[in-house]
Amino acid sequence: MIKRSFLLSAIIVPAVMAFAQQYGGMWIPTEVNEKEMKAMGLKIPAKQLFDTQKASIKDAVVQFDGGCTAEIISPKGLLLTNHHCGYDNIQSHSTVENDLLTNGFWAKNMGEELPNPGVTVDFIADIKEVTSSILAGTQGLESADLTKKINENIENYKKSQKIESYQTISVKPMYYGNKYYAYIIETYKDVRLVGAPPSSIGKYGSDTDNWVFPRHTGDFSMFRIYADKNNKPAEYSKDNIPYKPKHFLPVSMKEKKEGDFTFVYGFPGRTQEYLPAIAVEKIRTEIDPAMISVRDIALKTLDEKMRSDAATKIKYASKYASIANSWKKWKGEVEGLTKSDAAGKKQKYEQMLISKNPAVKTTLDELNRLYNEQAPYALNRAYYGETVRNAETLTLANNYYNFIAAVEAGKMDAKTLEGFKNRLSGVYKDFDAELDAKVTAKLLAHYANKAPKQFLPAGFEQYKNEAQNLQTIENLSKNSVITGRGSMNGATTYSDINKVFADQNALVQNLKNDPLMKLFSALREGYMTSTDGKVSSLQQQIDANQKKFMAQQMETDKDRKFFPDANSTLRVTYGKVAGSNPRDALYYGYQTHLSGVIEKYIPGDYEFDLPKKLIELYNKKDYGIYKNSNGDVPVNFTATNHTTGGNSGSPALDAYGNLIGLNFDRQWEGTMSDINYDPKFSRNIMVDTKYILFIIDKFANSRWLIDEMKVVK
Ligand code: ARG
Ligand code: GLU
Repeated sequence: MIKRSFLLSAIIVPAVMAFAQQYGGMWIPTEVNEKEMKAMGLKIPAKQLFDTQKASIKDAVVQFDGGCTAEIISPKGLLLTNHHCGYDNIQSHSTVENDLLTNGFWAKNMGEELPNPGVTVDFIADIKEVTSSILAGTQGLESADLTKKINENIENYKKSQKIESYQTISVKPMYYGNKYYAYIIETYKDVRLVGAPPSSIGKYGSDTDNWVFPRHTGDFSMFRIYADKNNKPAEYSKDNIPYKPKHFLPVSMKEKKEGDFTFVYGFPGRTQEYLPAIAVEKIRTEIDPAMISVRDIALKTLDEKMRSDAATKIKYASKYASIANSWKKWKGEVEGLTKSDAAGKKQKYEQMLISKNPAVKTTLDELNRLYNEQAPYALNRAYYGETVRNAETLTLANNYYNFIAAVEAGKMDAKTLEGFKNRLSGVYKDFDAELDAKVTAKLLAHYANKAPKQFLPAGFEQYKNEAQNLQTIENLSKNSVITGRGSMNGATTYSDINKVFADQNALVQNLKNDPLMKLFSALREGYMTSTDGKVSSLQQQIDANQKKFMAQQMETDKDRKFFPDANSTLRVTYGKVAGSNPRDALYYGYQTHLSGVIEKYIPGDYEFDLPKKLIELYNKKDYGIYKNSNGDVPVNFTATNHTTGGNSGSPALDAYGNLIGLNFDRQWEGTMSDINYDPKFSRNIMVDTKYILFIIDKFANSRWLIDEMKVVK
């Protein structure tokens, strides 16, 4: 097969490019397809991406605080990631008088960098395939026995490995458990905030532009890793010194061209590229639409008040953004799966597999049966989960329900209690009980009308009417501790949450008599009895068959080069700088510019306002060396890299391993790439390194940071 693609590449280059990109790819860095990467434009040996003997690019790529990706861009441990990845840390240093989110922050020297207790970065020191150790003695075992044996093997494997005191081992399944890989991880714990542009640059366009191209967001922030005097991980100490990396990424100033080779290195979270057609069809026609429909209602209800009331707008901005983020992604997913006929293509693919290997039919028949059996339960789970997540009154009640359970099980220690109080305070912090009563009333009605009838808890027929629900919720909330309106021990959750929780047993009694809690308990217990166990036990059977199906795909489709679905482990994906044609007669270029930032400017708007300084730089055309040959500063660009959530903050590199961009989003017309990557629609969106340097130098006057870097002209 390698031969065939090689041959093709010599003759018809565009066809091979399409072929190479047909299924996308998030490759384990020790197993990249070097031939294909070279054919597409990589100019360095693949070994330079990942080498345990010598410094290599992987030494500059870290997982940032367990979620995003970040990369080292100076010999002094300077770290680049997204603004939305550093957001919580930037926020935690903010006060009303000194709001770093609004104003931005730039340390003038290392002494001014701000510590962030709890924030970690993980390096991957080594990757090993350990399938035979982990699956040893598992032949013939099933379900719980199999899981138990595998966990034992994992523990034994970890114990058998000699590692340094600052290292840990993580063993991860790949290909649905057909293979296992071990990761040696080094975690650094002293990570300081160095710089962040104001949100009007770092989050420019906010929700309106989220998942959208053409895009104009300077979504970056900077941190620095500190180490002990031996350059090893250490808890925060003022005596720590800037980390000296084995490798750091040179920052490229070269102008991008359509078709340029690029690769993205990072920690993608979750994809499902190998599902059977039926699963894709259930997501497209049932699960996604159900989840979208719940969030449609929540977003619309919040938006009405946010538009008319400035205080609400501020209060709910972050919650709204979080509800809208997945909502918009799912909408793109449904549209993309439909337009690309993902399920139809999968069906054909399944027929092809069956024609070569009749055993595949047995597995698929079983998967079809299981997915059909699970469908109503899965649908109820989707409605229930989204209802409780988005109706905050129910979210609160759910937390108090868990609190009661923990107290009654005798599991309430000081740490657990702190956890409850923190989680609840987090909701109360920006909670508008009156506004949420409306959301809850509508979502409850939606649930009563839309969730599969057979699962509706007894008596829930009466919640089909929104207006009536609103009255009910209002009545039940009036004196309830849950909504913060009722008091306990002379305090409300707003005035003094500690006092409310001071006498746990009394609080439990109070909650048990709370009519709002009664309503929620009926809902939750109904769901648990009818759905929860069933959906999980069917899922276990699906997983076992999916493992079989995965193995069969790999042994039957010998011509295809498989990569494991994303699972938050280190991966490499590659592609070309490219615009797109997402709809008939609609073409997106691959690059946006500062002039486009200015075109979107709406003074005073919470999404499209701009800092005066940026407008001045634009008016004076004070672009320094950061402009392209067209005289404009490049801002964002797109490419065909196969990325997903978790790739935020990932470095986009050129053929030589220089940093050319900072990944932060995808365009929504292609977000189905989590299930069905399609080179026609799927594009990742990056901040151009020139814009990052322009903001650091011209906007923030922080040349000292650029002086640390190795800038490639
Ligand atoms: N859509 C991007 C990512 O997943 C960015 C999210 C943050 N930005 C925002 N406007 N909410 O998940
Ligand atoms: N914004 C996403 C993240 O936070 C990356 C976008 C995507 O899902 O591709 O990881």
